[in-house]
Amino acid sequence: MKSFIYDIPTKVYFGPNQIEHNLSTELKKFGNKVLLVYGGGSIKKIGLYDKIISELKNSNIQVFELSGIEPNPRHTSVNKGAQICKQENIDVILAVGGGSVIDATKFMAAGRYYEGDTWDFLIGKAQITKALPIVTILTLSATGSEMDAGGVITNTQTKEKLGRIHPILRPKVSFLDPTNTYSVSKYQTACGSADILSHIIEVYFCTYNSMYMLDTFMEGLMKTVIKYAPIAITQPDNYEARANLMWASSWAINGLVAQDKTHAWSCHPIEHELSAFYDITHGLGLAILTPRWMKHVLSSNTVDKFYQFGVNVFDIDKNLDKMEVAKKSIEKLESFLFKDLNLSNNLSELNIDNSHFETMAERVTKDGPLKGFIDLSKNDIVEIYNACL
Ligand code: NZQ
Ligand code: ZN
Repeated sequence: MKSFIYDIPTKVYFGPNQIEHNLSTELKKFGNKVLLVYGGGSIKKIGLYDKIISELKNSNIQVFELSGIEPNPRHTSVNKGAQICKQENIDVILAVGGGSVIDATKFMAAGRYYEGDTWDFLIGKAQITKALPIVTILTLSATGSEMDAGGVITNTQTKEKLGRIHPILRPKVSFLDPTNTYSVSKYQTACGSADILSHIIEVYFCTYNSMYMLDTFMEGLMKTVIKYAPIAITQPDNYEARANLMWASSWAINGLVAQDKTHAWSCHPIEHELSAFYDITHGLGLAILTPRWMKHVLSSNTVDKFYQFGVNVFDIDKNLDKMEVAKKSIEKLESFLFKDLNLSNNLSELNIDNSHFETMAERVTKDGPLKGFIDLSKNDIVEIYNACL
């Protein structure tokens, strides 16, 4: 077990009718000039935009807007936001949307205090030293960006998708109203759920002894996603299902479960290359990759963790042979992702062939083998990509 620091300072308002009572008060703690950032318009369709605008106008808050943040958000959009923050002397950014909108605002917030291209933060050319405060209203349960300190940005010119983590990027306040996710499509609900699950799997699978309390907590989170994602897909306005997914998404990645585990993640860096090259939905890429990664790393050395996963998460008979349980656990995961969530189960269906696999794997391993549950070389990663075809 490792030593760790626990510091998760995001204040959360969970449930309906919280915006009406608390949004303006929270924003005003930071100032009166707000930059409202959102995506392609889903917040207008569900009436959330009107609700926010009337609330802010009634409180005499000055609102500036930036819409059109793309899924897999582009650094060019981040630059636009940073520019508005500087020009208008914005006090606080209000991000309304899914992970893409929230991630983009994180680098706008830092860009407010930087003269160059915000992409510099992602490539390590500039350090994040200061950032505007961020308040979020989450509309899609998936990334956990509403309560974590990281963000991922895409540069379409260089075909790169890179992430950065810094504690000052963590939102100050997040409004999590599960009813705002009723309109999320079956497909995005499935992708978001696969993403939540992956955030837990990335941490849960480790080769050293971990804390029982955290493993048990993660198993509970995984069971929550497996139970409620199919319900949210068939009954989009099932509050219990949407609420469970929403709170699970935040806790999967807000830092709590990672406290005693510091190894690098495996499937995420491999997936980010897929999104960078083919602009696919992050959760879909993870769904396709994760079972293949599992098959690649399963061996007599790693079987114990798979056994634990199979018995505790999928209720597989603990008296069976360990390797049999391990293999069954991967089959159960595949059945969840590809049957229950109805996600595509291979890259060929997405018209992706092997032409960039070498380059993508080279990028993942540019600083040496990918250190994780099991270290992966460039060739390992090419094999995993090929297994996804
Ligand atoms: O743009 P709008 O019109 O809002 O539509 C969005 C978008 O098309 C739509 N949507 C969102 N809320 C909706 C809705 N549609 C109907 N009703 C609603 N209530 O859903 C589409 C996808 O949105 P997006 O924000 O892209 O999805 P997600 O939340 O999955 O975010 C994905 C991005 O986050 C990054 C991913 O790589 C990807 O770029 N990640 C961020 C992480 C973090 N900050 O810690 C960790 C993750 O591992 C991930 O890498
Ligand atoms: Zn993710």
